[in-house]
Amino acid sequence: MTDRNRAYHGLAGETFAARAEAPGLNSLHERPAVVALIGDAAGQDVADLGCGAGHLAAILSSAGASVTGVEGSEVLAGIAREAAPAATIVRHDLDTPLDFLADESQDGVVCALVIHHLSDRPRFLSEVRRILRPGGWLVLSSTHPTADWRYFGGSYYDERWVTRSFGEATMEYQLMTMGTLLNEVADAGFVLERLVEPQPAEALRAVDAEKYERLNSAPIFVALRARAVG
Ligand SMILES: C[S@@+](CC[C@H](N)C(=O)[O-])C[C@H]1O[C@@H](n2cnc3c(N)ncnc32)[C@H](O)[C@@H]1O
Repeated sequence: MTDRNRAYHGLAGETFAARAEAPGLNSLHERPAVVALIGDAAGQDVADLGCGAGHLAAILSSAGASVTGVEGSEVLAGIAREAAPAATIVRHDLDTPLDFLADESQDGVVCALVIHHLSDRPRFLSEVRRILRPGGWLVLSSTHPTADWRYFGGSYYDERWVTRSFGEATMEYQLMTMGTLLNEVADAGFVLERLVEPQPAEALRAVDAEKYERLNSAPIFVALRARAVG
């Protein structure tokens, strides 16, 4: 594991877990969009790659899926084990092969807000394709390329690594254009089924009216559902 993907380790992992639990951007905005894209996963084998504090793993397990959560941060893997006791949580660096998951062993893969942190997205996506059964689904979310562009400035096409503060910690991730994200998914052997640029739910207005208004005029997340082909 490189320094680059240690952003959610230690105290930063605890900070993320608390934020992801509290009513706000994760729980009331991004996560519902991802859950809606997944739909009914009862009876399915699902890998939650970069499972964080286990929120999605818990939701999917409760809905009857057999979930393998994969997480690089020891702190978050521990929290996920408590949050989703029915899931199998594996501590593993997603920048390395998913050797513990067999070819065509999964019906679905969810990867929420993780891919922009990874050093070799094409290699990661080919691993995702490998572990999925033919026709299996991938639900992926990331920061929205235009939101990053508005925040960091410069050229939209400059796919550089950036640093952003996160509580007392900082995290690094790589900017990408929308074309890069969609083409990398396509190149890995997927066809796009749905792409959403979530608008805020009413529930967010009561928690943070200013954020609600901002999200109503421009997206900060993108989420997609794709199907494994070939
Ligand atoms: C923004 S959090 C999202 C967590 C979770 N998917 C969710 O939606 O709540 C990003 C997660 O990706 C994990 N992550 C980032 N790079 C990783 C890597 N190389 N290997 C394993 N996990 C990684 C982080 O530890 C963190 O839990």
